[in-house]
Amino acid sequence: MNDMRVVERTVSNDSTKMKAEAVNVHYGTTHALKDVSVDIRERTVTAFIGPSGCGKSTFLRCLNRMNDTVASARVTGKITLDGEDIYAREVDPVQLRAKVGMVFQKPNPFPKPIYDNVAYGPRIHGLARGKAELDALVEASLRRAALWDEVKDRLDSPGTGLSGGQQQRLCIARAIATSPEVLLMDEPCSALDPIATAQVEELIDELRSEFSVVIVTHSMQQAARVSQKTAFFHLGVLVEFGDTGEIFTNPRDPRTESYISGRIG
Ligand SMILES: Nc1ncnc2c1ncn2[C@@H]1O[C@H](COP(=O)(O)OP(=O)(O)O)[C@@H](O)[C@H]1O
Ligand SMILES: [Mg+2]
Repeated sequence: MNDMRVVERTVSNDSTKMKAEAVNVHYGTTHALKDVSVDIRERTVTAFIGPSGCGKSTFLRCLNRMNDTVASARVTGKITLDGEDIYAREVDPVQLRAKVGMVFQKPNPFPKPIYDNVAYGPRIHGLARGKAELDALVEASLRRAALWDEVKDRLDSPGTGLSGGQQQRLCIARAIATSPEVLLMDEPCSALDPIATAQVEELIDELRSEFSVVIVTHSMQQAARVSQKTAFFHLGVLVEFGDTGEIFTNPRDPRTESYISGRIG
């Protein structure tokens, strides 16, 4: 009996990549996020859904300390990555963001060649020894982002010259070039057309074999298509978290039910 409990606990610890406990965020006097606790599992796509302004982006930014850059933001509570407190004094946020990468709503390639966009992270973190190794890393990242075939003959052209969908895949290649363990995506398809959206969604499903992916989306259809776990936020509160299928077919909270049936938001 005791042995069983130990085994169960080990298994669930193994699969927890990040853990948030009682996270609160204030922007000045605005209490934007209230006591949020959630586990982000390994090799799983977790979707954050909920009406605009409910705190999805705020919480996502807590996971790689992007709120550190917002002067008015005050974050309390505890967030761990592989059991280590990411807000501990000795943690360098720049190193943390190499492990917990981020892709934004609007594709934001640097005004530099495609190659340099992808090589940027590996260069600042010293991940490649010499040109050949860096070339290989750039190619591998572009392949994993399903962009290599479209750009391999124009690696010297600016990333900003690509189509919107290509730019977003370039940003994904840039984020995965540092071999992150978690990839955060804040409405990554909202500026893309349906074809580019489908490509990025397919890519997210492939990335799941290597990373934990957390995606904020305002599209419930997208959450249902790409995620295994869903968290529903409302007015700064995490109302419900569970298996995506359950949340969409059998929500436990009336607020979730109202949202998915189109009455909130
Ligand atoms: N930089 C900021 N400064 C002040 N208030 C902010 C800032 N970012 C977000 N907020 C506020 O925090 C709340 C949650 O916003 P946000 O996390 O962007 O929601 P969502 O991503 O769900 O739309 C909103 O009330 C918003 O106005
Ligand atoms: Mg947002």
